[in-house]
Amino acid sequence: MKSYMIKAFLLLVFMSKISNGSVMFSSLPPSLSVVASPNEGQVLQAGEDSITVSFGLNSSIANQTDESYKFVKVKLCYAPISQVDRKWRKTVDNLKKDKTCQFTIWEKQYDHQQNMSQQFEWRIEKDLPTATYFVRAYVYDSGDEEIGYGQTTNDKKISNLFKIQGISGRHPSIDIASICFSVFAILSLVGFFLLEKRQSKAKK
Ligand SMILES: *[C@@H]1O[C@H](CO)[C@@H](O)[C@H](O)[C@H]1NC(C)=O
Ligand SMILES: *[C@@H]1O[C@H](CO)[C@@H](O)[C@H](O)[C@H]1NC(C)=O
Ligand SMILES: *[C@@H]1O[C@H](CO)[C@@H](O)[C@H](O)[C@H]1NC(C)=O
Repeated sequence: MKSYMIKAFLLLVFMSKISNGSVMFSSLPPSLSVVASPNEGQVLQAGEDSITVSFGLNSSIANQTDESYKFVKVKLCYAPISQVDRKWRKTVDNLKKDKTCQFTIWEKQYDHQQNMSQQFEWRIEKDLPTATYFVRAYVYDSGDEEIGYGQTTNDKKISNLFKIQGISGRHPSIDIASICFSVFAILSLVGFFLLEKRQSKAKK
């Protein structure tokens, strides 16, 4: 009898460890509502443009209890179209392995006074890769585990997406400058060569 209880207890501890280690995105409620400034399909320039994000509790969930909410992170996430053939951006339901949202753009303690109604502006960092994105926010409990989310796109992640144009490959002028420079280098080499030739001819 006793050993049965110990086993049951151990099993319980073990199971709670498992569930602690892996939160499934599909199990999260849409506790937050998130709005970002880019229009659908808008193209923004990394290192130049900014986006404004506002978020708060999802008001369609009646009497949402937020006592366990401790922390919020807002992230920039790859849309499916920018994940094709890129394993390193893959969506996995287990959030520990998920690679959808790789860029944290804001994080703070959950503000219980304000119902977490917040707005912030974020300058798109220079090193962001060219891709199609949406914004997602996660709310965390005191154990640093996701317990809710909100996002600017729909469940299929196809609506209300925007594009960020990365820095690399954007400035053809740099390439043109480097081509001009190479041509100049070759021409001056040829020039030196001809000059040398003429001088040696003159000597003869
Ligand atoms: C708010 O919650 C409702 C009900 O769960 C859900 O249908 C809706 O998509 C959520 N709204 C947002 C913006 O996530
Ligand atoms: C929400 O709270 C209000 C008053 O606090 C109550 O009248 C209402 O029944 C509650 N709704 C739900 C869905 O629990
Ligand atoms: C927070 O939300 C509750 C219910 O959802 C509402 O009664 C209260 O006025 C809100 N407070 C603020 C500061 O928005």
